Amino acid sequence: MKLIQVRDYEEMSKKAADIVISYVKANPNAVLGLATGSTPTGLYKNLIEDHRKNGTSYKSVRTFNLDEYIGLDGNHPQSYRYFMDEHLFNHIDILKENTSVLNGKSENPEKECERYEQMIREAGGIHIQILGIGRNGHIAFNEPGTPFTSRTHIVKLAESTRQANSRFFQSLDEVPTHSITMGIETIMESREILLLASGSSKAEPIRKLFTEPISESFPASILRKHPNVIVIADQEALKDTDPEVIKDYLMKA
Ligand code: F6R
Repeated sequence: MKLIQVRDYEEMSKKAADIVISYVKANPNAVLGLATGSTPTGLYKNLIEDHRKNGTSYKSVRTFNLDEYIGLDGNHPQSYRYFMDEHLFNHIDILKENTSVLNGKSENPEKECERYEQMIREAGGIHIQILGIGRNGHIAFNEPGTPFTSRTHIVKLAESTRQANSRFFQSLDEVPTHSITMGIETIMESREILLLASGSSKAEPIRKLFTEPISESFPASILRKHPNVIVIADQEALKDTDPEVIKDYLMKA
């Protein structure tokens, strides 16, 4: 695992975008794994700006999103499909049929999990996976206790996650109770992973990411076993992590 230490959210977003853009320029058939939430929106803004200014093309790029709420269809403003369309896909030249988000309204969610795994396999696997981190260390919707061997599956959301996400809904009651998510093993098969973290609410999970033993009770800890993970974290997110620990992971920004 490597760390790029940045000042703030803007710099984190810019650094992440630079990595994605150079990859897409060098690999027009890139397969990107994408996340939703507050963390990657700045990255997506930068991709859109660059697409408009410099014409970086996504015509042959394929994408797979990490997760989706069960019970929300793609037109629901809080669905992750809607989020992706609004925050990225509608503003670049990607072909909608090349963008995959799990179907939260599938009549057979188990089958949907298999279908998704197969699609990722057929695409040749994910080249760069973007990740945020949950306050309890979740990655995608893999909550503490999820087996490291998990593939795409259905999960009951932790109450803390529902509460954290209720800021996007009218009330906590409206936040779905279940979601469908790529598994930890699925994520770990990505060739490269970029984990982004900004702000003081990420200080504890980031400290644990670097210091906790690798254990299913802190899902993100498994990333330390991946050969190619870059964490881009800002000062606030790193404020509780011992600088001595950070030193061993530091990459030049
Ligand atoms: C989103 C996802 C989640 C978020 C995490 C952090 O697709 O998989 O794991 O990355 O909950 O969310 P934010 O970025 O809103 O703090």
